[in-house]
Amino acid sequence: MSCKSFLFSVLFCWTPFLAFCQVTSTITIIPQPATAYGREGQFEMKPDTRIYFPEGKKDWETAVQYFMALAQTSTGYQLVAQPFKGALPSPADNGIYFMSDEANIAQDEGYKMDIKPGSIVLTARSAAGAFYAVQSLRQMFPPQFNSPKPVSDVAWKVPCCLITDQPRFNYRGMHLDVGRHFFPVEFVKRYIDLLAQHKFNRFHWHLTEDQGWRMEIKKYPKLQTVAACRKETVVGHASDFPVQYDGKEYCGYYTQEEIKEVVEYARKRFVTIVPEIEMPGHAQAALAAYPELGCTGGPYETATTFGVFKDVFCAGNDKTFQFLEDVLAEVCPLFPGQYVHIGGDECPKDRWKACPKCQQRMKTENLKDEHELQSYFIRRAGQMLAKQGKRLIGWDEILEGGLAPTATVMSWRGTEGGIAAAKAGHYAIMTPTSHCYFDYYQGDPSGEPLAIGGLLGLDKVYNYEPVPTELNEEEARRILGAQGNVWTEYMKTPESVEYMAFPRACALSEVLWTPKNKKNWDDFLRRLKAHFERLSTMGVNYSRSYFDIRSSFSGGYVLLSCPDRTMQIKYSADETEPRVDGRTYFSPISLKETTTVKAMPVKDGKVMGKTLNVTYYVHKALGKTYTMTKQPDQYSGGERYALTNGIAGGPRSWNNWIGLLNADIDPVIDFGAVTSFGRVTTHFLNNKSSGIYPPRSIEVLVSDDGVNFTSLAQKTFDAENLNKTGIETVEFNTPRSSGRYLKVLTKAFGQADGKDTWLFMDEVIVE
Ligand code: ACM
Ligand code: ZN
Repeated sequence: MSCKSFLFSVLFCWTPFLAFCQVTSTITIIPQPATAYGREGQFEMKPDTRIYFPEGKKDWETAVQYFMALAQTSTGYQLVAQPFKGALPSPADNGIYFMSDEANIAQDEGYKMDIKPGSIVLTARSAAGAFYAVQSLRQMFPPQFNSPKPVSDVAWKVPCCLITDQPRFNYRGMHLDVGRHFFPVEFVKRYIDLLAQHKFNRFHWHLTEDQGWRMEIKKYPKLQTVAACRKETVVGHASDFPVQYDGKEYCGYYTQEEIKEVVEYARKRFVTIVPEIEMPGHAQAALAAYPELGCTGGPYETATTFGVFKDVFCAGNDKTFQFLEDVLAEVCPLFPGQYVHIGGDECPKDRWKACPKCQQRMKTENLKDEHELQSYFIRRAGQMLAKQGKRLIGWDEILEGGLAPTATVMSWRGTEGGIAAAKAGHYAIMTPTSHCYFDYYQGDPSGEPLAIGGLLGLDKVYNYEPVPTELNEEEARRILGAQGNVWTEYMKTPESVEYMAFPRACALSEVLWTPKNKKNWDDFLRRLKAHFERLSTMGVNYSRSYFDIRSSFSGGYVLLSCPDRTMQIKYSADETEPRVDGRTYFSPISLKETTTVKAMPVKDGKVMGKTLNVTYYVHKALGKTYTMTKQPDQYSGGERYALTNGIAGGPRSWNNWIGLLNADIDPVIDFGAVTSFGRVTTHFLNNKSSGIYPPRSIEVLVSDDGVNFTSLAQKTFDAENLNKTGIETVEFNTPRSSGRYLKVLTKAFGQADGKDTWLFMDEVIVE
């Protein structure tokens, strides 16, 4: 052996650190384990591989059987399991050993996985830890291990490694709204299974809504016959105008037997279900069934569109509390977890203000306003739950007007509720819309299925930190964890739920499980590609939107990129469609005139994602700077000079628009030199139900010195615009003019019905 090769072999074989690092890339587990070292070699599972489980640990059967069922389904192997006691048989040969070790595994959900060529040893303190070891082990096998039917011609090998793992947070939740759309038991189970695979341990089952009450309550049969049905459903987005309905009755609820079945299914996956029964708001379906529980007495109907409704449970009527007490008495025994969620969000106070019973209740209970009445309502709900041995969770509105000390707050309107709760000594679960609302768009809305709005990309979910910096160490311990919310107004099918939930839930699982200092976005993307193969094998309709082609414009060129660098980018810039055998993007595309660029990711001759379709307006103000009296903050158009960046905002993509609340948008564009032009075009957005109003007027003015302006043209907008939704294009064919400065004075609508309104405008195109 030469000196050099000796040195190589010493480094390679004897330095454990290097040997581990060399093959750590074969580990693609999501969520990333606390520590994971790859080793040389592989273990191969064969038909005669033995499974051993610790004698006397009956509750471990769940984890062991879960593994054996998985293995049987995909490999076809009927593995045999047998109990064992004491130390490992040595040499451990062709066995998968489940070992109980309470002394060396600190956390209940923690585990150790030691894979060597001759054996796999999974050590845990509890059955839950053993289950998470199984979930990690399944991700070490080839992706076909997740197949729903036997696959032949696969060597069932796993790379050798040593993993020590435990979760960062105790509450690792995912939510599903079955009120807006109902999902069958089979899908709820599949969803729970997917959550468990990602080491989530809470399933928040949102069971009642304005649009449907989904749980059988035996004492109130009209909840099944009336509240579980709506006569039709709004078509498109609830804010679209004119509003249209599909005319089709929509019904669905879970029987108590089905609920038991789901609870048992979840138990076997170490998932605790948090059922939600909404009160006092989002109760219109219940009121449709029992109108005497509302302030006006009805009649009411189960909601057919989406939003926040004024008809809520009457807080002055004793029958309301009797009803809720009876409902909770049927709900609580079915769910073994300690928590029941009672909603508490979005409860307008209009009806309570006008209701003699509610006003009387406020007098008798000495409540100073309707917020205190809401707080009274929540306190009574808490007492009902306490009688049933349960604890209350509610959305952060439950903090308003005072809260029982044992209540836990789910912070959704930002993080403030969670911060206030933790500072006041309550436990909190973080679900801020900004990072945890998986009903928001996950890619450019122009290429996505209809969603409620917003934008929440995979990277933003991944980078979420649930513990707010405002908290000290003791307060921080009251942050139990976080949860991804899946509101289903715009998800009608299981496939669309999967599309919206995954892979954002994969990213959230890592936020909740992986130690903060072990998170690594680039490495997550590497592992996610392998994970996609697993999800594909399971037939999960996950989204690849994060990997869509992106474009930007700079110095007269369009730059295209794909976060997945293994993709080829095929594009067109001539109104044709891009083709698999068409032009490949290698360098920035020069733009001389207004052009639509279309681009798609391609790998091995296959289209791997959606087609980007973006029009760049090449015009005289492109790339020019401007000043405005008021700068936007929340809706800034995504760039400093979004009104002149060549891209116009889309009908649903609010991120490209400039938006100001109650204020004029009045850019003064500096061409840099005297420039002549004959046409100015701009756009505004009408979306009254989202508070986005048309301008009162738009005026185009020109100036040589930026101080004294001459008006060239003006348009005013009448009340008819208030009934439109969508983009309005406004074109001014001005007399040929010239000047160094151009001002577009867009006058805001201002307040409507006492409320501030938004003005949204984008791209000032000068020709
Ligand atoms: C919520 O999104 N209304 C909790
Ligand atoms: Zn009332």
